[in-house]
Amino acid sequence: MSINFAIIGLGRIARNQLAPAVNQVDEARLWSVLSRDRDRAAEFADANSAQSPAPAYTDLEKLVSDPELDAVIIATPDKLHAKDVITCAKAGKHVLVEKPMATDVEDATAMVHACEEAGVRLGVAYHLHWHNGHRLLAGKIRAGALGPIRHMRVQWTFKSDDASNWRASPEVGQWWSIAAVGTHCLDLIRWIMVPSCGEVESINGMISNKTWGGPHDETAILSMRFESGATAEFCSSVLIEAPTKAEIYGADGYAICDGTLGPHGAGTIHIKGNELEYETENPYAGEIQDFVNAIREGRSPEVDGKEGARNVELLVMAAG
Ligand SMILES: NC(=O)c1ccc[n+]([C@@H]2O[C@H](COP(=O)([O-])OP(=O)(O)OC[C@H]3O[C@@H](n4cnc5c(N)ncnc54)[C@H](OP(=O)(O)O)[C@@H]3O)[C@@H](O)[C@H]2O)c1
Repeated sequence: MSINFAIIGLGRIARNQLAPAVNQVDEARLWSVLSRDRDRAAEFADANSAQSPAPAYTDLEKLVSDPELDAVIIATPDKLHAKDVITCAKAGKHVLVEKPMATDVEDATAMVHACEEAGVRLGVAYHLHWHNGHRLLAGKIRAGALGPIRHMRVQWTFKSDDASNWRASPEVGQWWSIAAVGTHCLDLIRWIMVPSCGEVESINGMISNKTWGGPHDETAILSMRFESGATAEFCSSVLIEAPTKAEIYGADGYAICDGTLGPHGAGTIHIKGNELEYETENPYAGEIQDFVNAIREGRSPEVDGKEGARNVELLVMAAG
């Protein structure tokens, strides 16, 4: 039997990545959807072959009262995640929430507790974990290919034409470049470094917002130190088109990821000067497959609520 998924928040990520990924995974199926607009919900459900006999909702309580629904993907703006996750958990539905899972530590903690109390899985959608090249590289680094890790640097930017995106204002967003891409950079750094370098023991942020003059970061540089003494930094920005890059420096060599940060699971990775061969696959399908497996096996998803909450906590410490 398939796991029946609903998607809430029918915007860019839901349309371009999440619904196709659910439909790509054999043991998952898109069951129902929720929008603030009934016609948009109906059109989205139809376009993505949602399987429920009545798949289009505008009311979350009604959506989660469906006994045939197993899991909900939350893809609304960041500040709205917490209340929706808690509503889904209380109804006994597993939840995969988009990143960042919340915009403050209190909300993140409440989401984790609600899912624990309800006995449902809580996953956070950091899809870079299911980039095949990243997974291969992480395995080699864990096996000691670069020796002890000393430093990691990540850059992910894009160019916004104006400040009309909801992330640029405080109503439903808290950070702009940090929420769009910086939180992924932090997740990648933690995924690669925490296993051998220990926890982040210190983090600082340099935030700039002078181009559009809004309340949120346009460019952010966050730097941190781990328990081992290793260091890391990332730069996120909404002001510049630049190549994405992740650089990992160990005592015995380094690895460079060019163009791997993005939706497509592509790009080039070199480790100690040699190109890493890997198959390009949809990382969002890997993310959905892991969540399905977590439900079936009664285990935490690879990126669980506690890891998502730690990411939020560090962002708050460095960027407010
Ligand atoms: N993992 C990734 O690769 C990735 C990439 C992009 C975004 N994300 C995350 O996914 C979430 C959604 O981002 P997005 O880029 O898809 O945003 P988006 O295109 O603006 O879509 C968000 C959707 O949420 C719904 N919504 C409900 N209340 C809203 C409100 N007050 N203001 C605006 N929209 C509202 C809207 O759908 P209805 O009008 O249909 O209700 C809207 O289309 C965010 O948490 C974001 O960080 C993740």
